[in-house]
Amino acid sequence: MAKENLYLKFLLLTSVVALACFILTIVNDLRYPNIDVQHNKHHINSRLMLWKIDKEPREHHHPVYKRKILSKTTYPIVVSRPYKINNKDICSGVDKVSCIVMVHTAPKHFERRIRMRATWLNSTHYSPESVRVVFLLGLVADPILQTKLEYESKIYKDIVQGYFIDSYRNLTNKGVMGYKWITEHCRNAEFVAKIDDDAFINFFKLFEEMSYLKEKKKYIKCNKISKGSMKIIRENDSKWFVQNDEFKDMKRYPHTYCSGFTVFLSTDLVPMLYHAAIGSPFFWVDDFYLFGLLPSKVQGVIHDGLRPNLTLRFPESFNCYQEQGRKCQYVVMPAKDKEIYRMWTAVIRDRTQSIYGNYYMNLPSNKENVRRLY
Ligand SMILES: *[C@@H]1O[C@H](CO)[C@@H](O)[C@H](O)[C@H]1NC(C)=O
Ligand SMILES: *[C@@H]1O[C@H](CO)[C@@H](O)[C@H](O)[C@H]1NC(C)=O
Ligand SMILES: *[C@@H]1O[C@H](CO)[C@@H](O)[C@H](O)[C@H]1NC(C)=O
Ligand SMILES: *[C@@H]1O[C@H](CO)[C@@H](O)[C@H](O)[C@H]1NC(C)=O
Repeated sequence: MAKENLYLKFLLLTSVVALACFILTIVNDLRYPNIDVQHNKHHINSRLMLWKIDKEPREHHHPVYKRKILSKTTYPIVVSRPYKINNKDICSGVDKVSCIVMVHTAPKHFERRIRMRATWLNSTHYSPESVRVVFLLGLVADPILQTKLEYESKIYKDIVQGYFIDSYRNLTNKGVMGYKWITEHCRNAEFVAKIDDDAFINFFKLFEEMSYLKEKKKYIKCNKISKGSMKIIRENDSKWFVQNDEFKDMKRYPHTYCSGFTVFLSTDLVPMLYHAAIGSPFFWVDDFYLFGLLPSKVQGVIHDGLRPNLTLRFPESFNCYQEQGRKCQYVVMPAKDKEIYRMWTAVIRDRTQSIYGNYYMNLPSNKENVRRLY
């Protein structure tokens, strides 16, 4: 008898709690009607977010999200912040852009960016195809460095800087900012490339032999890391150390993702990934967050491999192009600083015209070589 009574009480209590939760949720949804949850159907975190994020009081110029301390969970910061530097017109003025390249770059890599712009990122070489670039940056502590970046932005108009400290463990914010910026300002790109600033893409070969990228939907092509194959590093003396309470009890990453050196994405996917980020708790391993966790929240994403058209060793790619010219199989390779001109020279060595017959090939002039920002 006593046992049954206890059981009934327990049932009643559970129902009351469940009902209370349900009512609170509805009330809460009504209180924040303008937060868009429609795109977040595929995961449960969006509701959590509605509970936790408070809109900034109006009088502040730069909205900053505050969080009620209900748990330690945080979300990518850039979702709720404006840009410190924005260049909205990178993709505008034309119907379409063949490829937008978003670059994770370190603020002080001025010279590297100049070399990239002057060689493989210069769109004039690829007509009638076109390439645009956006360099993604975070905040810097040094005001002189900041002034230089603003000057660089004024000259090249290809810098986007967000309100987060530019640091290794903030790269996820950089990537989400890239998704956000493309969603807002570059939907006319036929496909997207995310690269680190030591990557080099042979766009001649890409447009000739991989133009199928333009037709793809919900598609990612990269150096793929299959679900369950990569260990989560728990040793606390490692650079890649992950806290025990993140992906708790898991030994390996639970979704297929990419090494972020170079990743091609179909443009349709980018807004979906951005909207998924709004409700996906921050995780600092950017390659997994951007190319594994977020895609896992969108139904039907395909990850395709990039090998054998990728190498991570400069001498290998350089020698390959020296020996085989345009027959070299590498489309993506590393090249940084002085290697950039060497690689470019090797890539255009046997190219006088494309399959379209109208590529415009040249070496950066000596003047451009010595051009300085400061
Ligand atoms: C791109 O190439 C064109 C034509 O050679 C040149 O005029 C222009 O200065 C180059 N742009 C950059 C940023 O180097
Ligand atoms: C990331 O950026 C935020 C916002 O500027 C800052 O509070 C945080 O300390 C940064 N994290 C790291 C690891 O630098
Ligand atoms: C790092 O891990 C070791 C053992 O795994 C532990 O003894 C040590 O206290 C940890 N250090 C920190 C700073 O957490
Ligand atoms: C990629 O590599 C494979 C194998 O070497 C080669 O057959 C193919 O042509 C390459 N693709 C491109 C676009 O270079």
